[in-house]
Amino acid sequence: MLSVVNLHASYGLIPVLHGISLSIAQGESVGILGHNGMGKTTLLRSLMGSLRASQGTVHLNGTDITRYAPHARAKLGMAYVPQGREIFPTLSAMDNLRMGMVKTGQADVQSIDALLEDFPRLKPLLDRMGGSLSGGEQQLLALARALAGKPTLLLLDEPTEGIQPSIIEEIAETLASLRDRMKLTIVLVEQNLEFIASVSQRVLVIKRGQLGGEIPREHLSDLSVMSQYTGVHS
Ligand SMILES: Nc1ncnc2c1ncn2[C@@H]1O[C@H](COP(=O)(O)OP(=O)(O)OP(=O)(O)O)[C@@H](O)[C@H]1O
Ligand SMILES: [Mg+2]
Repeated sequence: MLSVVNLHASYGLIPVLHGISLSIAQGESVGILGHNGMGKTTLLRSLMGSLRASQGTVHLNGTDITRYAPHARAKLGMAYVPQGREIFPTLSAMDNLRMGMVKTGQADVQSIDALLEDFPRLKPLLDRMGGSLSGGEQQLLALARALAGKPTLLLLDEPTEGIQPSIIEEIAETLASLRDRMKLTIVLVEQNLEFIASVSQRVLVIKRGQLGGEIPREHLSDLSVMSQYTGVHS
């Protein structure tokens, strides 16, 4: 579904991604694990098109989208939940969800009800201002808003950052269920070992803008072994 070949990206003259190649099948959930500053956000921004690739190609379902703007990629089924969530703080939670439906033009009560089935915690919060929700609630809202556009490929940037363990577990369960029920393809960048292991079928390690290989599947259940691949501690 997603094929990335020799992707390079820079901020001005400073190169950050140095030839990333990866291939992700439809319905697969791939985790990318890496320390601070290794290029995780830069990679997702390049995949979504908010940062231009300086070299290399990105194909989605056979279409070369390397030069496509983010809105064109969204039309093709890509959605991005940025690090820090970026919900609209002065809009209600409900209006935040409606913004996610602008693309599909389905901002009706039924589709919002259907969406909320996967996010029961949001149901009593719909009238609240986005900015008044807790960090975990905002993360759930950002995720629900991204799903409101009915994407087929979801890019997630550190959804556990600054969030309490009970909501982290809830987000992991929601993502695993969406992946299994809707065949949603997920690219998740994270530093949280337990979360990435519980959501991803495959985990790749990013180091200084390069993919340093895949963690063998049998090691995903052992956090102390996993931590040795990156030096990220559980
Ligand atoms: N807008 C920018 N301008 C210049 N350099 C940047 C910019 N954004 C990121 N960088 C640099 O690019 C490198 C990779 O940053 P990136 O944000 O992709 O890392 P990350 O893996 O997402 O880190 P974190 O875990 O802290 O979110 C870092 O050295 C960072 O300082
Ligand atoms: Mg980041």
